[in-house]
Amino acid sequence: MRTSSLPTSTMASSTAVHRLHTRGRGNLFKCLKNLDAFLRRRVGTVAVTARNEPPRKEENEGGRLSFYAIQAQRQEQAERSVLIGCTPTVNENKIIKFLSRHGNIKKYFTYESYGTYAVVEFASREGVASLLEGAGIPNNGHESMVPYKSRLMSLKSLGSAELSKQPWSQHNHLQTTIPINNLMQKLCLEESIDQQIIRLTEACQLTEENSHLRFLVCSLLKDIAAAYFPECSIQPFGSSVNGFGKLGCDLDMFLDLDNISGRNLKTPKSALTLEYQMKRADSERTVTQSILSVIGECLDQFGPGCVGVHKILNARCPLVRFSHQPSGFQCDLTANNRVAMKSSELLYLYGQLDPRVRQLVFSIRFWARAHGVTSNIPGAWITNFSLTVMVLFFLQQRRPAVIPTLNHLRELAGPADRSVIEGNDCTFVSDVEKIQLQNSTETLEQLLSEFFEFYATFAFSKKSINIRKGKEQNKPEAAPLHIQNPFESALNVSKNVNGPQLERFVALCQESSWLLQQRYIRAPKGADNPPAHWGLATLLLPSRIAMVNSRKKRKTKPASEMVKSLLESLRPVNQPKN
Ligand code: GTP
Ligand code: MG
Repeated sequence: MRTSSLPTSTMASSTAVHRLHTRGRGNLFKCLKNLDAFLRRRVGTVAVTARNEPPRKEENEGGRLSFYAIQAQRQEQAERSVLIGCTPTVNENKIIKFLSRHGNIKKYFTYESYGTYAVVEFASREGVASLLEGAGIPNNGHESMVPYKSRLMSLKSLGSAELSKQPWSQHNHLQTTIPINNLMQKLCLEESIDQQIIRLTEACQLTEENSHLRFLVCSLLKDIAAAYFPECSIQPFGSSVNGFGKLGCDLDMFLDLDNISGRNLKTPKSALTLEYQMKRADSERTVTQSILSVIGECLDQFGPGCVGVHKILNARCPLVRFSHQPSGFQCDLTANNRVAMKSSELLYLYGQLDPRVRQLVFSIRFWARAHGVTSNIPGAWITNFSLTVMVLFFLQQRRPAVIPTLNHLRELAGPADRSVIEGNDCTFVSDVEKIQLQNSTETLEQLLSEFFEFYATFAFSKKSINIRKGKEQNKPEAAPLHIQNPFESALNVSKNVNGPQLERFVALCQESSWLLQQRYIRAPKGADNPPAHWGLATLLLPSRIAMVNSRKKRKTKPASEMVKSLLESLRPVNQPKN
């Protein structure tokens, strides 16, 4: 069934695209009807291209799924799912019963984002195909519609449906983090800094539902891109999949055309061979730019829920940025970005090795965001990616080391792990079970405190951070902060960071390190006059030192002395000195 239906869908889509090109926008609507027919056929029949590399193993020996196996599972689940805007007052059971007429529903959940939405996962794609078949065209009187049909729908109540006051509460899931004040309160109820760090991670990390929604958005967007490139896939990367994502983080996506492009060349088996005629371009970058330009235009013109589409094609890594309103995600779509995908896999692997890795990264990323060391807005700030590499480097420096170097992970790689992308060796072991860790027993509190101490005194002016070797290196360039890109060794991932931002980071590390050495900060229990905030919560309070720094008064006293005098003023009354 799969082999017989694939050429039909490919032809249908090529025809639609050809018409789009030749007839121009005047006939856009007619072409979209063809596109819709093509989409319906694909939903029911064609298996998804689930990964950017074939899975090396479905499962590792120890039963833990590999990064690519998890990606493949989530993509397949997303293909069986639909996103439905709902009237929140209609009875939940009625809605589910109504949708179940089209096929068995495996799972569903709801959330709020500019209205109530339900993510409904059918047991098979036939359920989705039947639902698409049964959906109608919106009738909004005077308004004109772009007739693009997709798995993003609205459920309308005709008035006779049973109403309920709290219909969706049971399956409603928050897609953002709890407000910081609530989180601080929760942290202060914990018994130790270790538990605070664990609590913060649990409160911030992506939920199963949020991950499902991220893959569903990729799948919806892939349906649009597939009108031009039927064998493409759109895969999330970065913090959506690397294990360090926080609820509310952006959705980085990668349009994978490797099944179409020349990268997966087949060796001819006979004397005669056929190849496609294709348009030539000056460079890979030009190809990426033109593909993203067209897909960006499609999202802008007929992508349901895609708003504020900006094509940023002259960036080092060209991208299309937009908001996907029904999910609430800020999206960055790139193409030809396989090294970043590999970085996501590496970070995921490190996060799987020891729970302390993710917990420490979460708390340090949270701390950095609370103090404005990192930001969503591009600029001279340290990025979350750079900060994560800094934490990994620090963990490699502990004795015994908490995690191994990238070179060691490369030595453990088997032939199937070999990966060379654009001349860069990105090989490392994918099977977590093959990695032997040293016997590190440091607590999270110790690691957090040592992290601040480590970077408070790091020789940034001379040294570069290198997780491949797990050693400081002499800086090859004059940038204030030099962090070698794990896979493109000539690149500095923190090239954007300027001197003042680095100084601020160092001053904040000094302050936090000093704070963690104060007894009254560390142990709330049994203190005569316990502070309102303690432990990790104190580190998240607005920093006095950073405020002084920003007013450029730093030269009056050395930073360490300023920290001490400022913190003296924070000490609770009657609190003895350490
Ligand atoms: P968030 O801030 O939570 O979005 O973290 P993130 O890890 O998703 O970072 P971001 O959205 O900035 O970048 C997405 C991914 O692109 C990262 O995880 C990296 O894999 C990659 N990336 C980001 N910055 C760089 C860089 O400077 N160099 C390289 N090679 N890759 C980068
Ligand atoms: Mg991101």
